Amino acid sequence: MKTAIIYISHHGTTEKVARFLAEKSKQDVELISLKKEKNPDLRSFHRIILGGSIHAGGIQKRMKQFIENNLELLMQKEVGLFICCMDPHKEKQEQEFEHAFPDKLKQSAKAKAVMGGEFCFERMNFLEKIVVKKVAGVSESVSRIDWDAVTRFLNEMER
Ligand SMILES: Cc1cc2nc3c(=O)[nH]c(=O)nc-3n(C[C@H](O)[C@H](O)[C@H](O)COP(=O)(O)O)c2cc1C
Repeated sequence: MKTAIIYISHHGTTEKVARFLAEKSKQDVELISLKKEKNPDLRSFHRIILGGSIHAGGIQKRMKQFIENNLELLMQKEVGLFICCMDPHKEKQEQEFEHAFPDKLKQSAKAKAVMGGEFCFERMNFLEKIVVKKVAGVSESVSRIDWDAVTRFLNEMER
């Protein structure tokens, strides 16, 4: 049974989570970055995990487009969905997750999770640093990945 973890990451956090999932999985896993491959072929995979991050309220356009282009095929697979984000409020995180993926896919997903996130100042450009300082009140790198959520997600996917 082959699994694809298809992710998109701006500063490396979603990639870190995707790599952890791939390492800990008991399945045969292929990691695919949508930055490198815009429209990977899903046909040989039984299970698909989709992960992206939230910037200015939304998931990456490339992930949205990929899902839109492949929705019918994705509906025939075992699917897991996750986001990385840094809003501290659970309600807001849930809203961000809700907006990130289409209803049809969320309803049929085997596992869903908000994995927390990181602010990586060394990877941000000038404008991003200003936005994060202003909006989040944070001015140095911080990691708040929810590793328990990551592990729970993996267990649910592999149950
Ligand atoms: C410019 C900027 C805007 C962001 N906007 C949001 C946001 O609207 N909501 C949120 O929950 N997190 C927001 N974040 C936090 C990111 O989701 C977090 O940094 C995440 O770990 C990024 O993952 P990535 O490196 O895989 O892209 C923002 C981060 C940056 C740098």
